[in-house]
Amino acid sequence: MNYVAIVGTNARKSYNRSLLWFMKKHFNAQANIEIVEIADLPLFSEDAETPVRIAEIARQIAASDGAIISTPEYDHSITAALKSFVEWMSYGDLHPFTNLPVMIVGASLGRQGTNNAQEHLRQIMDAPGIDAFVLPGNQFLVGPAATNIDIKTDDMTDARTISFLETIFQNFMVFAKSLQPMRAMAFDRTSGAAPTVAGKGVVESVKLGYANLEKVMPGSGLDVDAVPTVIAPDADAPVVEQGDGWWIEKTTLTDDVVASQPVTVGATVDDDEEDATTGASMF
Ligand SMILES: Cc1cc2nc3c(=O)[nH]c(=O)nc-3n(C[C@H](O)[C@H](O)[C@H](O)COP(=O)(O)O)c2cc1C
Repeated sequence: MNYVAIVGTNARKSYNRSLLWFMKKHFNAQANIEIVEIADLPLFSEDAETPVRIAEIARQIAASDGAIISTPEYDHSITAALKSFVEWMSYGDLHPFTNLPVMIVGASLGRQGTNNAQEHLRQIMDAPGIDAFVLPGNQFLVGPAATNIDIKTDDMTDARTISFLETIFQNFMVFAKSLQPMRAMAFDRTSGAAPTVAGKGVVESVKLGYANLEKVMPGSGLDVDAVPTVIAPDADAPVVEQGDGWWIEKTTLTDDVVASQPVTVGATVDDDEEDATTGASMF
C-alpha cells in the first residue's frame, strides 16, 4: 500500500514531522509512506492561479491508497498552514481527498495531545469538496510530545505508545484495503463523476439475497410484493464466498461494466422474473 503523509505545519522544527518520519521507518515493511511538506506553499486565495506544486501534491494524494495527516494543535484547532493546504485541496479541479481513506494523528506539548485539533480536522475532512473517508475512532494523540518523541532522531520513546500506534496503523490499513471495492465503484460527489478506476482489474462486492421472507422477517405480516425479493446469484456468477442470505461476487471493472451496471440498492425482483436479477448490491 502507498500512503501519503502530510506534515500539518510550516514550522521548521516539528514533533508532528518527526512522528511521520518515525511511522515511515517503523512501518517500512508493511507500507510505503511518502512524506509531503506544506511549509513553503502559498496561503490559499480564491484569486490566485493554482500553483504547480499544489497540483503536483494533489495528483500524488489522488494516486495514493490513503493519506495520513499529522496535525499540531494551535489555539485548540489545526494550524493556519494546514487549513490553507486543505482549502487548496478542495478548490477548483482539485479534490484529491474525495473517497480517500485518511488517518489522523497528532502531537502537541499539552497533555491532551491535539484532541481539539483532531476533532476539528475530522469535521473539515467531511466538508463538501473534501469528502474524505476518515478512519473512525482510533484516535492517536501524542502528549506531551517532548517526552514521547525524540525530535533529533525521529524516534518515539515510549513502548506502550508505539504499540498503540501499531494497532491503530494496522486498523487503518485494514480500513483502507476494505474500502478499495467501494472506492472503485463510488461516484465522486463533488464533480458527479463516475468512478475513475474503471478498467483497473477486479473488485469484490457483497450481494444480499432474501430467499425466504418468512425466515428473514418471521411473522412480519409484511406485504410480500412491497419488499425487495432477491433469491440467489446467477448460475454463472463469479461467486467467491457465500453464506445464509449473502454472497460475494467478483466483478471485472471495465468502462462498460460501470456504465451498464448502475449501483442498485434493494432492487425489487418480480417473482415471475427471478432469473433477471441476482441480488441487491451493497456497493
Ligand atoms: C500559536 C500556538 C498555539 C498553540 N496552542 C496550543 C493548544 O491549543 N494546545 C496545545 O496542546 N498546544 C498548543 N501549542 C503548542 C504546540 O503543541 C507546540 O508548539 C507543538 O510543538 C506544535 O507541534 P509541532 O511541534 O509539530 O510544530 C500552541 C503553539 C503555538 C505556536
